[in-house]
Amino acid sequence: MTRILLLGKSGMLGSSFVDFFVGMDGFNLHAFTHTELDITNTQKLREKLVEIGPDLVINCTAYTAVDDAEKNRDLAFKINAESVGEMAKLCKEIGAALIHFSTDYVFDGKNSEGYKEDDATGAINVYGESKLAGEKLIMENMKKYFIVRTSWLFGKNGKNFVDTMIKLGAAAMQSGTELKVVQDQIGSPTYTHDLVNAVIMNFIEPLQRGKDVPFGIYHLTNSGVCSWYDFAKRIFEIRKMEVNILPINTDQFPRPARRPAFSILLNTKLSKMRPWGEAVEDYLSE
Ligand SMILES: NC(=O)c1ccc[n+]([C@@H]2O[C@H](COP(=O)([O-])OP(=O)(O)OC[C@H]3O[C@@H](n4cnc5c(N)ncnc54)[C@H](OP(=O)(O)O)[C@@H]3O)[C@@H](O)[C@H]2O)c1
Repeated sequence: MTRILLLGKSGMLGSSFVDFFVGMDGFNLHAFTHTELDITNTQKLREKLVEIGPDLVINCTAYTAVDDAEKNRDLAFKINAESVGEMAKLCKEIGAALIHFSTDYVFDGKNSEGYKEDDATGAINVYGESKLAGEKLIMENMKKYFIVRTSWLFGKNGKNFVDTMIKLGAAAMQSGTELKVVQDQIGSPTYTHDLVNAVIMNFIEPLQRGKDVPFGIYHLTNSGVCSWYDFAKRIFEIRKMEVNILPINTDQFPRPARRPAFSILLNTKLSKMRPWGEAVEDYLSE
């Protein structure tokens, strides 16, 4: 029986893991919400880790408000870096492996070819800087880690682009206005359900079978790239919504946090996940 401690149970990705593990044999899952276990409370985290003695910790917590992070730097660093470093130390102490999630925003997005796992990082906003600092603290403090960078997540139980577009598209259709969507940021939308399956297949099941999986940094996204505009168009096609959609550039839609122009994570270590468009179709048919 593999004992797993999952943090961030009610988030978009965390809840997708919980859905997977419900009723699965061979796993003993202990999952916590923010209220049940605040990762910034190191003492409480230590108590839980010692009490449960997990083989594996899955950290789905994060401060994910990219724009708010610009004015809440300390809090973003506390959750995404400092507490993650403490978590890594505790995992090492009790001998647990750690699966941690990070982001395309650790890169500056200037390379239109995309970024490999070991390419030089260089975040351009506070959220990205804090996530990058978290990665570094894990690497400094333990060896048994999988840092999984992903991008443009969508899925159940979270604020995500697909749901937002459906809402905004419906409002635009009703009011007869056009919907402006950014066309000069390129990335790979990723369905939480697919990401969870890839993490289980590539890391958790092999670990459970006692197979050697190299620890390190991995890139996992649905395959293919698009702009936010392409992504929105595809959503409306699938939903058969006739929205008057207008491509705009980033400078016409100023936000507090800068975004990388090319958020393309190249996966050179694992098998590719299915194309993002198929994943959106599945999500919308749920
Ligand atoms: N969403 C994306 O597009 C995206 C893209 C790339 C990478 N990622 C990464 O993927 C991971 C999962 O993201 P997500 O979209 O599932 O995020 P999410 O829906 O915002 O979930 C994050 C969870 O963390 C919890 N949390 C925040 N602070 C906490 C704390 N101090 N202690 C315990 N729990 C805390 C939140 O609880 P409350 O809501 O109650 O505060 C929430 O349940 C994160 O590492 C994120 O950086 C996400």
